[in-house]
Amino acid sequence: MNLKEHIRNVKDFPKQGIMFRDITTLLKNPEAMKYTSEKLLDFAKGLNVDKVVGIESRGFIFGSILSEKLNAGFIPVRKPGKLPAEKEQATYQLEYGTDTLEIHKDAIVPGDNVLIHDDLLATGGTMEAVCKMIEKLGGNVVQISFIIELSFLKGRDKLKNYDVRSIVEYDSEE
Ligand code: PRP
Ligand code: MG
Repeated sequence: MNLKEHIRNVKDFPKQGIMFRDITTLLKNPEAMKYTSEKLLDFAKGLNVDKVVGIESRGFIFGSILSEKLNAGFIPVRKPGKLPAEKEQATYQLEYGTDTLEIHKDAIVPGDNVLIHDDLLATGGTMEAVCKMIEKLGGNVVQISFIIELSFLKGRDKLKNYDVRSIVEYDSEE
């Protein structure tokens, strides 16, 4: 299957010059859903995964599917102010300003093997921040998987020490 055929390209969203890669068209197609989850599962074959971390919000969809298939727990990383219990926080740089993500401190037990999933790798700032939080809590990041990689933004350069996987790659905004 060519997954790109199920990803909608929306020009100039959320701003001028950006081509938004919209996965809602993939999500509404059961064969594309199945193909995506099987691919992500295939990346993780042979790994011993204790926890799958999904990043709010688009990382929750396949992150939870993957955790169930891997017999692993699912851990949400959330936008600020959403998690109720004691938490770890990471702030990272955006093009303009900063953003923050949070995880419950007791979500990861030291020594846990953690697979982190998000829908899309752009600059890598989000994923780098999440890796730092998980490692601070004593987790081992055994794989990072994405559906989409915008390779022209060089997000992989921020994730050099990790096993980074993606299903489809775009090398420009076209
Ligand atoms: C998008 C995408 C990734 C992140 C990638 O999420 O889903 O999580 O940006 O960007 P980066 O590699 O440059 O850090 P967004 O913040 O738009 O939120 P959403 O998932 O809730 O839609
Ligand atoms: Mg996101």
